[in-house]
Parts: sequence; structure tokens; C-alpha cells
Amino acid sequence: MKKIKVASIFGTRPEAVKMCPLILELQKHEQIISKVCLTGQHREMLNQVMELFGIQADCNLDIMEKNQNLTQITVNILEGLGRFLDAEKPELLLVHGDTSTSFAAALAGFYRKIPVGHVEAGLRTYNLHSPYPEEFNRQAVDLVSDLYFAPTELARKRLLEEKKNPGQIFVTGNTVIDALKNTVTEIYSNEHLDWAEGSRLILFTSHRRENIGEPMRHIFRAARRIVQDFPDVKLLYPLHKNPKVREIAYGILGNEERIRLIEPLDIYDFHNFMARSFLVMTDSGGIQEEAPALGKPVLVMRDTTERPEGVEAGTLKLVGTQEDVVYKETEKLLKDEKSYQAMCNAVNPYGDGHASERIAEAIVQWFLGDKIVSGGNGNVLSEP
Ligand code: UD1
Ligand code: UDP
Repeated sequence: MKKIKVASIFGTRPEAVKMCPLILELQKHEQIISKVCLTGQHREMLNQVMELFGIQADCNLDIMEKNQNLTQITVNILEGLGRFLDAEKPELLLVHGDTSTSFAAALAGFYRKIPVGHVEAGLRTYNLHSPYPEEFNRQAVDLVSDLYFAPTELARKRLLEEKKNPGQIFVTGNTVIDALKNTVTEIYSNEHLDWAEGSRLILFTSHRRENIGEPMRHIFRAARRIVQDFPDVKLLYPLHKNPKVREIAYGILGNEERIRLIEPLDIYDFHNFMARSFLVMTDSGGIQEEAPALGKPVLVMRDTTERPEGVEAGTLKLVGTQEDVVYKETEKLLKDEKSYQAMCNAVNPYGDGHASERIAEAIVQWFLGDKIVSGGNGNVLSEP
């Protein structure tokens, strides 16, 4: 039986969360030989996810440096990955999303004329500075990709508007839902949740590069005022490992009794915390996909989002980074039951939790079956 060698390359926490369910599926598939190369753009936060999914990588470039910059990340990956690709000679290289790892890995594949498959293709803000540098990364990856795994119909539409070949686009759902299906449990306990018992819990995260500095100070001050003004509110912030983020967070949020700054949670804990929180405040991308599925209101502390599906559904609200606006929007949800309930509808625009199977099937179909180059609508394998 002919087998296809597929190399999956990723290196940060969110990529791992969304690639691990796919790796497990590729490993099961009898027509696929799956290889995994981690760039190690993240270290502890990546290892946490790999351990939870029980996946061993075939290689780890281990490039992370404290306070790394975009040039270092890109150059180190391009060089390191070249050696792996030359040794393994995969027939397909899979990358995910919009990180510097995704961009550098796709470029390494392109330079070697290895076809690239982009998982989570077609997300856009069309503003190269927001999110920065992710909007550039995802557009650049799509420029050199051969297979586009679009999570939603909207993502497919954007790719078609950019004149991508419809036969190369597969609407699959988002693999984050595959992950979410296996993490949230009815019976769960944790000492931080015991601490928050009887209070309204705000689950808070912030790490975006463009927010570091003044915008982050604004959103942290808004969060501190909220906790000070609402005695029944407690706030949990699993801190990103970035030292720049930590410094600002400890400076503004470090001395409040009802605020806990804790180490990054593993994905099992984080999803179960989210399922038990009152609301979520974040500038994260992935959390915007997970919270709607759990019916948790999310205040998105950014000026743009590439995930308008959740905004349209009413679960996400873009609030920017101005202290007064973030404060007022949070206050509204805490005071006004009607506004709060309006955002609590559980909607899941991201599929049925079978995205990984669809992606594996599309790869086999592409390499071993008749390549479908359809006339207009792309390859909708089945409605997610
Ligand atoms: C990266 C991605 C961003 C994604 C985010 C997810 C780029 C340019 N950015 O941003 O799109 O939203 O990951 O979290 O690709 N660090 C550790 N240990 C870790 C991880 C990070 O110590 O496990 C520290 C290091 O000092 C590192 C710094 O955090 O230099 C920043 O990491 P980096 O990957 O450059 O940027 P992120 O903000 O994490
Ligand atoms: N997450 C986690 N532990 C945490 C915070 C977040 O496992 O302490 C998960 C979260 O559920 C989501 C992913 O990490 O799946 C999002 O990663 P992040 O916010 O770092 O990156 P982004 O999605 O913004 O690129």
C-alpha cells in the first residue's frame, strides 16, 4: 500500500493544542506516515501540551531564547528545519495558524518545493499590524500553501476572494473543538476553583505582542478596578511565560487579595476552569474559539479579530484596550443580568469535533485519490 509521509511542524502552545488531535489521527491512519518536528519556539508551555496528549516528537529544534525577537525565531527555524526536511524528505508539510513557527516552516517547505498544508487557513483581519505579526504570518503561509484546511465557510470564502483554487480548499471545522471534546468533565476540582467558590470568577489571559506596554497597563488597571469595585468577583490569571508580560502583570495586579496570578495551566485544567468561570477577559486567539462552545461571554481586549463568527453569535465582544472602555464593558456584564445572559448562548461555529479526521481524509484523497479541482465551492467534505 502506498503511504504518504506527512511532517507536522509546530512550536507554540496554541499550535500544539490544535495540532495534537490531528497528529493522533494521522498516527492512526494506515496510509499516512506521521513525523513531528517541534521548533521549540515555546518550551514549558509547549511541553505541557505534548505531555497531556502523550505525543513524542521526532525532533525538537529547541530554539527558544528568553525575550526572543522575531528575526531570531525565523532565522533559527529556517536553518534548523532545513536539516530535518532534507533528512526526512516528507511529501507534505503541515503547519498551523499564524505564528512565526508557521511562517518560517512554510517558507522552509516552499524553498524545498515540498507541498505545504495549512491547518486553520483563511483567517483574516487584513490589518498587518493587528494582530502583529500574525496577520502577516497567516497571509504569507496561505501564499505558499497547496492545501487549505479552512475551519469555517467564512474562511473558505476569504480564500476564494483571494483567488485560491477552490479544489485545494477543504472546510473541516477547527481541531480545537476536537480537543475540547475530550477535556471538559462534569467532575473536576482544583484548589484555585475552591478559592473562587462563592464568587464570580473572571478567567483572564493577556500576552499579545502589540499589547505589551501601554495597552497592557490599561487593561490590567481596568481589571484591578473591577476587582476592587466588585467584592464578589475573583480574578484568575494564568500568566504567559513571557517575562515582559509578567513584569507588567506583577506590577499592577500583584497585590490584590482577590486576584491570583498563577503559572500557565495545562489545557485540561484551563478548559475546565473556563467551563466554570463567570466570564473570560482575553487577548488570545484560541480562547475566542473555545469560549463560545462553552457559552462563556468573552471580552476580547483587542481592536480587531480574525474570528468574527463568535462576535456575530453574540458570545464575543471586541472591547479594545482603553482602560475606561474595558472597565465599563466588564461592569456592564457584572451589573446587567440581561446583557450577561445575552452573551451566554452556547454556539459553536467551529465544527463537530471531527476536523482532524476530515483533514487526514483530505490528505489521502489529495495524494492517493483523484485530485478534485472543483468548479466553485471548494471541497466541502461534510458540513462541520
Ligand atoms: C507566540 C506567537 C503568538 C501566539 C503566542 C501564544 C509569534 C510571533 N507569536 O507569541 O502568535 O499567540 O505565541 O502563546 O509567533 N516563554 C518562555 N517559555 C515558554 C514560552 C515563552 O519562557 O514556554 C517566554 C520566552 O522568554 C520567550 C517569550 O516568552 O522569548 C515570548 O515568546 P514568543 O514565542 O516569542 O512570543 P509569544 O508572545 O509567546
Ligand atoms: N491555554 C492553556 N493554559 C493557559 C492559558 C491558555 O492551556 O494557562 C490554552 C487555551 O485553552 C487555548 C490556547 O492555550 O487553547 C491559547 O493559547 P494562547 O492564548 O497562548 O495563544 P493564541 O491562541 O492567542 O495564539
